[in-house]
Amino acid sequence: MPRKIVKSKFFFEEDFVETIAEVSTEKYKDWENNDKLKVVGKPLSRIDAYDKTSGTAVYTFDVQLPGMAFARILGSPLPNAKLKKINIKKAKDLPGVLDILTSENTPKISWYNNTTLLFDPHVRCEGDEVAAVVAETEQIALEALDLIEIEYDELPFVSAAEDALKDKSVKLHDLGNIVRGKPDEYNRGNVDDGFKGADIVLEDKFTTQIAVHNPTEVHCSVASWVGSKLKVWDSTQGVFAVRNTIAESLNMPESEVTIITPYMGGGFGSKLEAGKYSVIAALLARNINRPVRISVDRKQMNLIMGNRPDSIQTLKAGVKKDGTLTAMTLTSVAAVGAYPNGGGCSGPVRQVYKCPNVKTTDYSVMINAGRARAFRAPGHVQGTFALESFIDELAEKIGMDPLEFRLKNYSETDPISGNPWSTKLLREAYKKGAEAFDWYKKRKTPGSDNGHIKHGVGMATQIWGGIGGPPANVTLKINNDGSVIVLGGTQDLGTGTYTFLAQVVSEVLEISIEKMQVIIGDTSAVPYGPQSGGSITSPTLSPAARDAAEQMKSKIISGASAVLDLPEDQLVYKDAVVYAKNDKSKSISIPELMRKMHEQMFITNGTRSPNPEHYALNTFGVQFAEVEVDTETGKIKVLKIVAAHDIGRVLNWKTCENQFHGGIIQGLGYALMEERILDYNTGKVLNTNYHEYKIPTIKDIPDIEIYVVSTGDTLLSNTGVKGMAEPAIIPTAAAIANAVYNAIGKRMKSLPMTSDKVLNVLYS
Ligand code: MOS
Repeated sequence: MPRKIVKSKFFFEEDFVETIAEVSTEKYKDWENNDKLKVVGKPLSRIDAYDKTSGTAVYTFDVQLPGMAFARILGSPLPNAKLKKINIKKAKDLPGVLDILTSENTPKISWYNNTTLLFDPHVRCEGDEVAAVVAETEQIALEALDLIEIEYDELPFVSAAEDALKDKSVKLHDLGNIVRGKPDEYNRGNVDDGFKGADIVLEDKFTTQIAVHNPTEVHCSVASWVGSKLKVWDSTQGVFAVRNTIAESLNMPESEVTIITPYMGGGFGSKLEAGKYSVIAALLARNINRPVRISVDRKQMNLIMGNRPDSIQTLKAGVKKDGTLTAMTLTSVAAVGAYPNGGGCSGPVRQVYKCPNVKTTDYSVMINAGRARAFRAPGHVQGTFALESFIDELAEKIGMDPLEFRLKNYSETDPISGNPWSTKLLREAYKKGAEAFDWYKKRKTPGSDNGHIKHGVGMATQIWGGIGGPPANVTLKINNDGSVIVLGGTQDLGTGTYTFLAQVVSEVLEISIEKMQVIIGDTSAVPYGPQSGGSITSPTLSPAARDAAEQMKSKIISGASAVLDLPEDQLVYKDAVVYAKNDKSKSISIPELMRKMHEQMFITNGTRSPNPEHYALNTFGVQFAEVEVDTETGKIKVLKIVAAHDIGRVLNWKTCENQFHGGIIQGLGYALMEERILDYNTGKVLNTNYHEYKIPTIKDIPDIEIYVVSTGDTLLSNTGVKGMAEPAIIPTAAAIANAVYNAIGKRMKSLPMTSDKVLNVLYS
């Protein structure tokens, strides 16, 4: 069959890709019929479920090495200051203290795009690293931190993005406070013309809070040297990214650094990049010639390990009486903390609706507080809250049902590129979700319930990537007994990566899941692969796994052909046995084949094919929310969420539902309670623990119904998988906010929708 060559738009030199790439979908049509699949798509328990629930799974914090010492970090108590004097003598004299690092005795390793150092004598936020102690026990290390004496030159600080934009504001960096020196802008059509053509023009302002990732497992590393070689166990979403940063920081070849992440307890984006703590652990371990475990505590995590930036979003739209959007503009301002990061949230405005004239301006602004990091669907969660609240307002203004209004402005092609989508089943998602939720029956006039408990319903749309692409590899080895070693260029941040890799290989080779040994999260063993972020892990790795397995099947058939002395086209592969088509008595199993071939190990490497050109590639979905608002207490209770999404093929129903539940619950926390509170007078964070920073608990969790309206996206890859971990959280807060409006007839324009804000909106 002729191979159609497609060039990759990403990562590779184009002509290089041309020689190696093929559109795998031509070869792999047989997965189009979901019903034929035996393992893929099924609700299988995780292959590591027992290890995790029994406590035998080894997380970074569980790693125990002979002679291991323990390190902790001292953070700045001030939001902006220069270190005048550091005295470590008392700390050093404490029995059990082994070594101390500060800006005075540590190599100048640049960090955060060269805006600071590993230990910078200028601290720009509370928690910024000023020293690290390694000791015989963690307790001694903590005591020693208290004995380090530092004199600071206190500097004025800035705590809010709007203040940091003012001319007379404190400047965090030479370039000023705006990341990259200017806002991110996007423009299509002509918005002035668009507004002129509108019957109604509406403007409104929405704000969202800073939220902290707060994964269960705190950030930690164990660093160990053997001669010139460094091994680091790290709680990370990207073993290769961490390896590269550590190698670069320590000026070592990548071949001498190994990163291992067998299991980790969540990241949500806060563990996408290497942390300073990992490099600090490596330096300390080298200095004392012993393995070192370092970890932050919950407070440090809340201060400096990342957050979702806040936003002030001003939206303006023009709409015709029939509901047609004629123009939309968005200006957003986000506080991204003390070092550069992206705070833009205009993605949904640019891409969800057909609107021909769109202009967006995103300011990412630095302030003296812990730096933002990508957080589950960065930008889209805050952007969708504002856009989808605003769309509801527009629909009401012209007297249309919110769902009808969205269908009126449905975009059949990608409004950004003009390309068709590989698949877009949002209409089907709207239909499925509305039916399951009983939308048209539950809709009511806003605020029309009698009594102080008011019910309401709302909905919101979601768009995201979650597509992935090359480079990514999966390597397979067949053992002599017919069992399989699967080496995946990835790590499992807790989403079920081990399991889907085993499923895909099992499906193709018809070898049971129990015979799969999946090895991931080890840079010295596995082939290259990307960070687990952007919901790309399964859409990127599953095609590589299928490719490797299909190659392995070909290899087995070709080996059988030689041994049975029959041409390949007269052989069939079934249940890991190769049969002669016309004579079922002639057959050979994999163990027999291996023996005949003198136990030569069959190895294949599968790669992720490039994405198709000239198509837009996205995930879509809708969530419907039903709430109850107590107008006496201001308390919002979410009763039900119905989610209907287009996410391509589902590899495993159980882990898919896990992701939806997690995303929706995290979205509910964002909507109702989660908020990092920074005291403007002191520049300090007031709630750095689970007691004061509220996240949802079991009593807050509503009924959740999940519908997936898609099957495999055959244009996309040989598995047709799109990612769903981020789509799950994107529309939740907006759907809840719209339901609250429907309940009380007053719009909540500021997240989180705490009781005090609800009462304010109701009675002021
Ligand atoms: Mo995520 S923010 O894709 O880890």
